[in-house]
Amino acid sequence: MKMLLTGARVIDPGQKIDAIMDVMLADGKICQTGVDLLKSVKSKDSAKTKVIDLSGMVLTPGLIDMHTHLREPGQEYKETVASGAKAAVAGGFTSIACMPNTDPINDNRSITEFIKRKALEADMANVYPIGAISKDSAGIKLAEFWDMKEAGAIAFSDDGKPVMDAALMRHAMEYAWSLSLPVISHCEDTNLSAGGQMNEGYYSTILGLRGIPVIAEEAMIARDILIAEFTKTSVHIAHVSTEGSVRLIRAAKKRGLKITAETAPHYFTLTDEALQTYNTSLKVNPPLRSAADIAAINEGLADGTLDAIVTDHAPHARTDKELEFEYAANGISGLETSLGLSLRLVREGVLTLPELIAKMSLNPARILNLPKGNLETGADADITVIDLQLPWTVDVHTFYSKGKNSPFQGWEMQGKAILTIVGGEIKYADPRLNL
Ligand code: NCD
Ligand code: ZN
Repeated sequence: MKMLLTGARVIDPGQKIDAIMDVMLADGKICQTGVDLLKSVKSKDSAKTKVIDLSGMVLTPGLIDMHTHLREPGQEYKETVASGAKAAVAGGFTSIACMPNTDPINDNRSITEFIKRKALEADMANVYPIGAISKDSAGIKLAEFWDMKEAGAIAFSDDGKPVMDAALMRHAMEYAWSLSLPVISHCEDTNLSAGGQMNEGYYSTILGLRGIPVIAEEAMIARDILIAEFTKTSVHIAHVSTEGSVRLIRAAKKRGLKITAETAPHYFTLTDEALQTYNTSLKVNPPLRSAADIAAINEGLADGTLDAIVTDHAPHARTDKELEFEYAANGISGLETSLGLSLRLVREGVLTLPELIAKMSLNPARILNLPKGNLETGADADITVIDLQLPWTVDVHTFYSKGKNSPFQGWEMQGKAILTIVGGEIKYADPRLNL
């Protein structure tokens, strides 16, 4: 079955395309892009081609979230591979990379294979498992990198926890480099962050909650940059939240080091001021920071210091969140609000739309070495169609994710993914499209 998507504004940052065009899909691949493709269809095999009019819409390479937490195996009440993959396509993501902090930790071949199998059964978004850096993410011994790579792991991370032992991190970067896979570092010095509940500053003082200083993140980023430079390898910095972090990464890139970095929508949307409600849906690690940090993150996004926007989708159950602030779990359910929040950056003039799309598709694909994130002829037919104008209200009860933990409940949004195609098949279509 062929599919012809007509009349959309096609944005493909990899080919520097931003124009009204038609896109033809066949056998799970992009087989042609151009103008007036409808004519050729009419003359030939119109009955065999599904034509979808997308006038007024934006068509992009399928969005890629390189930092998602699925909770299977072990915490299926929070999220399964299937529920997370469904939430992904509803949020416009055709591919997600899932962190290894499941229970047990994804630190070996059999769990990597298990996640891949569950993803195949779910048949929604592509799911790429990230293997643990250390056994049980305990920070003591390296996990079986080669074995996990063989089983399908596309990167290594102990995300959720930092690798406190610098020698272990050095070996992780060297070994991963020899396998041509990236290390993704959750940067947090736990001696500095211990017991912290929120950003250390004015609001932590008046709220009486123990603070997490910005240097807990920045000291570890500085260390990882030094290790990457010394070992002549690379590192990808996860969920950047502070001004100092942006400055460190910018300087490292300027010196030609192979450092890449990401941030998440909550870090450019909310500050620690919001915590005055003690709403535990605002509790996340790293914590929400200050207005100055948001300004620096916006600058980092605009000048390319921050390569990718990720969800850090961290679904939790009510029983994990409806607790005293101190006991509540860290994390925000992000797959279904990420695009809506990120589109605000375009309206605010922080990024152009093609720049935003690059940070949510092409750049993550490049960092993870995935053959994705572009609309070239012959590429996988992974496509996201966005209605930039569509107004909608966040309602966690309509999330496909089991994680209803969102501080954006009730927020008015503008712009949404209305059609998500994975491998040439429609995996999500907004009812308003009447497909
Ligand atoms: C993540 C989780 O719940 O797994 N939580 C979070 O607040 N970000 C862990 C992590 O990414 O550090
Ligand atoms: Zn993390």
